[in-house]
Amino acid sequence: VRELRGRVAFVTGAASGIGLGTVRSLARAGMRVAMGDIEEAALEKARSEIAASGADVRAFRLDVSEPEQVERAAAEAERAFGRIHVIFNNAGVGVRGPLDEMSVSNWAWVVGVNLIGVANGIRSFVPRIKAQGEGGHVVNTASMAGLIAPAGLGIYNATKYAVVGISETLRAELAPQGIGVSVLCPGLVNTNIFTAGRNRPERYGGPGETLESIRQAAQQRAMDPAEAGECVRRGIEEDRPYIFTHPEIRAAFDARVANIHADLEHWARSAS
Ligand SMILES: NC(=O)c1ccc[n+]([C@@H]2O[C@H](COP(=O)([O-])OP(=O)(O)OC[C@H]3O[C@@H](n4cnc5c(N)ncnc54)[C@H](O)[C@@H]3O)[C@@H](O)[C@H]2O)c1
Repeated sequence: VRELRGRVAFVTGAASGIGLGTVRSLARAGMRVAMGDIEEAALEKARSEIAASGADVRAFRLDVSEPEQVERAAAEAERAFGRIHVIFNNAGVGVRGPLDEMSVSNWAWVVGVNLIGVANGIRSFVPRIKAQGEGGHVVNTASMAGLIAPAGLGIYNATKYAVVGISETLRAELAPQGIGVSVLCPGLVNTNIFTAGRNRPERYGGPGETLESIRQAAQQRAMDPAEAGECVRRGIEEDRPYIFTHPEIRAAFDARVANIHADLEHWARSAS
């Protein structure tokens, strides 16, 4: 979408971090923005602050892992703004620890939000974007953890690899209709992800573990969410398949690809 002014975006995980930074960037570019989040107080605070700058923003409380709640928010946002051009499926959470120690509820929560949440956003918003006939764009938030998988973040990696795959498929499926798709793969951004457990619903085990220690270490070298928001805005305007905030992480990705090539060659040799 080249011209954002006057167009409408729906952003999930909009009350904090990368989602909030992106709402600010899109509103500054003249978009009208529907802000969706599970954390109601933070959402209302963020909405009123952005509205005070004169932007047309509205808040929709939703849990992205619940298909009916996503569908209801999509219908309400469409009624409020007339049409929707951009969906940013960004809400996400994480847990840390070795895979063999991960509980069933850890799996259900992180897969529910990071993967099923994206699927729910695609199902409720893409048909609406197609129907308005003016083109549009989908951004899904994965991570560099969707392209490289070191020890310790197994469930998170599983969901983020999946989001990269879904986004590549969706880009191929929507290209004929003039709807772009990007996958956002950030490195470390200074957000509240390290206290994601604050928003863990009861059915997924309730509020839990926070990772304050990593947060403090991470903050020192993390990017400002405002900068990440600008990357997302540019990715939409330029219809980039991948949005990278930290292209310097490339070396770790190259190492993964080199491993895959080495084994392709190994198996090619032993086949002959
Ligand atoms: N911060 C980083 O370093 C980093 C790096 C790579 C990827 N990411 C990804 O960026 C995205 C945004 O995370 P962030 O870092 O801004 O964290 P954040 O915690 O600051 O923001 C995430 C927002 O999502 C909301 N949320 C959580 N569960 C939800 C649910 N079930 N339904 C609706 N909203 C929900 C939270 O209330 C919060 O406002 C996530 O998908 C995360 O995995 C973050």
